[in-house]
Amino acid sequence: MKLIAPSVLSADFGHLADDLEMINRSEADWLHIDVMDGTFVPNISFGFPLMVPFRKYCSKPLDVHLMIVHPEKYVERFCDAGAWSVGFHLEAVDDPIPVLNLIKAKGVRTCLTINPDIDVKRLVPYLDKVDMVLLMSVFAGFGGQKFIPETMDKIRFIRSEIDKRGLNTLIEIDGGVNTGNAAELFAAGADVLVAGSAVFGAKDPEEAIRTMKKVQ
Ligand code: DX5
Ligand code: ZN
Repeated sequence: MKLIAPSVLSADFGHLADDLEMINRSEADWLHIDVMDGTFVPNISFGFPLMVPFRKYCSKPLDVHLMIVHPEKYVERFCDAGAWSVGFHLEAVDDPIPVLNLIKAKGVRTCLTINPDIDVKRLVPYLDKVDMVLLMSVFAGFGGQKFIPETMDKIRFIRSEIDKRGLNTLIEIDGGVNTGNAAELFAAGADVLVAGSAVFGAKDPEEAIRTMKKVQ
């Protein structure tokens, strides 16, 4: 699959409805929503209040990426707020299974995420228990960082583990994605590319989305 999920973190919040209308018109597949708590990551973004306009003005599925401690306390509220998928970090919990079960019980798709310093092999036992894994290609916390090239081998590794098992688990990549590396990421086996600054910072965001999607 080749899906593009623009990260609303880089949107203009003074003109949020306009930016969401652009997303609706565009070939974007999902809207990626970065929730940061200032504890799991050294930055604070936004939380439940903004799920309301996201849901109201965006016609695309809402892909929620929680960068928070204690995701078990909040995943159900994000499901109720209209999330299409809810992801949290493996390194933020002792055992992801109960948290995944809370999301599944709401009928919402699950995603397990790791930062670049977490061994990608730690995802393997969960590949058949989630709808998607998200490999961070920058350290979670800020948009506009530079893509970490070592991510490429991790994508190939997870792709082969998924294929070996005949699973449909999606691979999402988040951080430093742009029109220059999208082709390589898809070729390595990524299914979903998150792009914040490369979309909202582009002169023509719809064109940037189209370019990333069109790559072979
Ligand atoms: C970083 C977030 C990303 C971020 C991506 O912690 O998870 O989704 O918004 O931004 P860019 O595409 O600018 O690296
Ligand atoms: Zn993200």
